[in-house]
Amino acid sequence: MSSETVPAAARLRGVVRVPGDKSASHRALLVSALAAGTSRIDGLSPGDDVRGTGVIIEQLGASMVVEGTETVVTGSPDGLHAAGAPLDCGNSGTTMRLVAGLVSGIDGEHVLVGDPSLSRRPMDRVAVPLRAMGATLRGEGERLCAPLHVVGSSALRGIDYDVPVPSAQVKSAILFAGLSATGPTIVHERVRTRRATEDMLALAGVPLDVVDVGTGRRVTLHPARPQARAWRVPGDPSQAAFFAVLGALHPDADVGVEPIDVAPERIGFVSVLARMGADVSLVAYAHGTGLVSRSASLRATTIHAEEIPSVDEVPALTVAAAAAAGVTSFIAMGELRVKESDRFAGSMALAKALGCRVWASDDDFFVEGLASAANFQPFHQPATLDHRMVMAAGVAGVAGHGCVIDGIETVSSSYPSFFSDLNGLR
Ligand code: S3P
Repeated sequence: MSSETVPAAARLRGVVRVPGDKSASHRALLVSALAAGTSRIDGLSPGDDVRGTGVIIEQLGASMVVEGTETVVTGSPDGLHAAGAPLDCGNSGTTMRLVAGLVSGIDGEHVLVGDPSLSRRPMDRVAVPLRAMGATLRGEGERLCAPLHVVGSSALRGIDYDVPVPSAQVKSAILFAGLSATGPTIVHERVRTRRATEDMLALAGVPLDVVDVGTGRRVTLHPARPQARAWRVPGDPSQAAFFAVLGALHPDADVGVEPIDVAPERIGFVSVLARMGADVSLVAYAHGTGLVSRSASLRATTIHAEEIPSVDEVPALTVAAAAAAGVTSFIAMGELRVKESDRFAGSMALAKALGCRVWASDDDFFVEGLASAANFQPFHQPATLDHRMVMAAGVAGVAGHGCVIDGIETVSSSYPSFFSDLNGLR
């Protein structure tokens, strides 16, 4: 584990190109592996999480080569097969949950393992629906943590399932299993989560119907083998969020981010920041929509988890709250506790380390801001095996008065060049 000092910056200028969206990258690999024929993926995320998914699809029988900016994946003509060796999902919950769904439809026994962070995360949320479809899943303890043993079957049955916790990973696991089931699979979600799986399966020719219902959505999938095709992965909005926050709270910043996915489920953080008084806006670049963020005085707000489904942007928004005037309320944030680390505790600890008064009540937490990043204390960020906590700490250090980060290399799970991109703005 390495410990590094991140110094403050006097001035920030420039435009960053964030990596390809992690969610779309995992799905591009999995859908391409399932397809008969050769798919080309442009702009795949360079992070370890997505690399791990790539290794797994090769273990299951697909082949993969990198040609310049493209990753070329060829599915096995007679379909994927059990690997006969553990499938290492590393630090990536998306890998473990989506692959659990995919291998549920493949005859044989599959063992999914992960690092210490992933091995603490609950897998019962995917095991329950996948069992109902006819797969057998075993894990450790009540919440079925990894190692996760899956006995898959090519004779799964479709289900009609109401996802209890809003989760794109759970929805996607069920849809991947449904591809090889008998009969349609219907998934209901009460809050609309990111829809990369639905959109990409539909583009790959899988018959699929998506209907918005109130604040939620119903997805109906009919079993089919996806078709090979070319994919273009957009920039990752959850990574752009770190630069949006950085630009807003740094006293002398004008920071741009090149085109990203601007699906409504992904860019809730932009409206939250705008409400806080940030000078942040979506802008048209030649190849799509990116964003620009400039220094501003921030004020506190109330942020409900439903505004930012999956709550990936909370560590960054906590830093914004720490620089705002007033008390920012983070409401219904329980899901933060089961991310790569306990981000509920971790976000509060980060704000506290910056000098803020923080407190919690059930699934809500509160940050009394310091009115400006100039009032941040220098701080020490402990190692967490959590890329987003590292990046949030980096933003706070650069905008405030520097920090020391333990386990800084953890950013490689999603954004290996994060600190060089950040330093490029100095
Ligand atoms: C993801 C879904 C989210 C998110 C994660 C990526 C995905 O998790 O936190 O970073 O690609 O499906 P949940 O499904 O647990 O909300």
